[in-house]
Amino acid sequence: MLLTDEEQAMADGTEGPAVAAAMDLLVRYGEALGAERLVETRNVAGTTTQPSPAKERLVAEGGWDKAFSVISLDSDGDFAVPGVRVPTCQLQSGFGVDALDTVPYPRHWAELQGEAEAYIGGRGVNILATCTPYQVGNLPVRGEHCAWMESSAVVYCNSVLGARTNCEGGASTGAASLTGRIPYWGNHLAENRYGTHLVQVDARVEDLLDWGMLGYFVGDLVQEQRPVVVGPYARPDLTDLKHFGAAAASSGGVELYHLPGITPEAPTVEAAFGGGRVPGAVSYGPAERRRMYETLNDQGSSTDVDFVLLGCPHASLEQLRDTARALDGRKLHSGTELWIMAPAALAMVARRTGYTAVIEAAGGKVLTDSCPAMSRTAPAGTRVFATDSAKQAHYLPAILGIEAWFGTLEDCVDAAVTGRWRGELR
Ligand code: F3S
Repeated sequence: MLLTDEEQAMADGTEGPAVAAAMDLLVRYGEALGAERLVETRNVAGTTTQPSPAKERLVAEGGWDKAFSVISLDSDGDFAVPGVRVPTCQLQSGFGVDALDTVPYPRHWAELQGEAEAYIGGRGVNILATCTPYQVGNLPVRGEHCAWMESSAVVYCNSVLGARTNCEGGASTGAASLTGRIPYWGNHLAENRYGTHLVQVDARVEDLLDWGMLGYFVGDLVQEQRPVVVGPYARPDLTDLKHFGAAAASSGGVELYHLPGITPEAPTVEAAFGGGRVPGAVSYGPAERRRMYETLNDQGSSTDVDFVLLGCPHASLEQLRDTARALDGRKLHSGTELWIMAPAALAMVARRTGYTAVIEAAGGKVLTDSCPAMSRTAPAGTRVFATDSAKQAHYLPAILGIEAWFGTLEDCVDAAVTGRWRGELR
């Protein structure tokens, strides 16, 4: 690993033992990946506040510095952790104490997370508390090198914003926050950003449901490669792209896709493939669309719905507005709960705009900071849930052992007010 003079000085301890431990971790990590050097970053997004038994034990043994050095720097050194060197934000983790009236989440976990937030906040980490930092002020520019965690955020960062990040972890983002460096490999290199597969859309792709199903199809098709998806399809908005990428990162491991004429590194199909050979297209037609719908609904058998979950990835303002409109003047079924997950900053906008009052008048809840998959919790007694998110339909049945229905926002709200699943593909 080739280090600059500044990096070597950090590794030698001129900025203290915590920064030296961070450099040591990045060098080991980069060498394992075959990276020849590090790259400067001024945009780190990690999640370091998630409560766990190991973290609780470390805090009890040696305080938060100890927990951070072991978990985020892979070091058993005994040192004080300084403030972050570059702009860093906290993504989602567990629920806070303000959610405990609604969510059956252990109080001591919520309190531990609150302590963790105070600790990293005191070191200059911005507590955005969302898996969609790009919705609430963290918008890297095209070509910017980032160090982000969270698969749905990573694919949005690379594909929609044209910034560059690999799918990092808690340790590498912790080390990046103290050094402003991350190994230069994978998605940071231009030659690794060109398309590998061509997908031709020959079916209806017009709304959020369709973008989720199309994402689920391309993820399953390309796995960790890079799809180039050509229309015709309705021009996607932020929410469509958020769901498309999250679904592609769930059924596969997609970190970067191109929509020619829409995403920034693909003005044309040829540009998306870097001027190289354009492969033959795989069709996404009506049969594939129906197959995706059936796959995403194959975890559902009982039509009695206990729980409706919206906002995965965390909801946009438009989704909060549409949920309020769909619930306006209605009441949830007595045996069914509805939660919509949102970034804390947008939840504040939704409350001031009046969306939250409408959702709450119907019996629904706007929640922040986490989600059922991340916190491994749902309303007590949930056996069957419904969602408009392909990502949650993919993960939550396995995480919580519950049945899933997948459909439109309207199907989900209908299930919330009737207690029954009546969705079907249109
Ligand atoms: Fe976000 Fe949870 Fe979905 S972290 S992407 S709402 S699984």
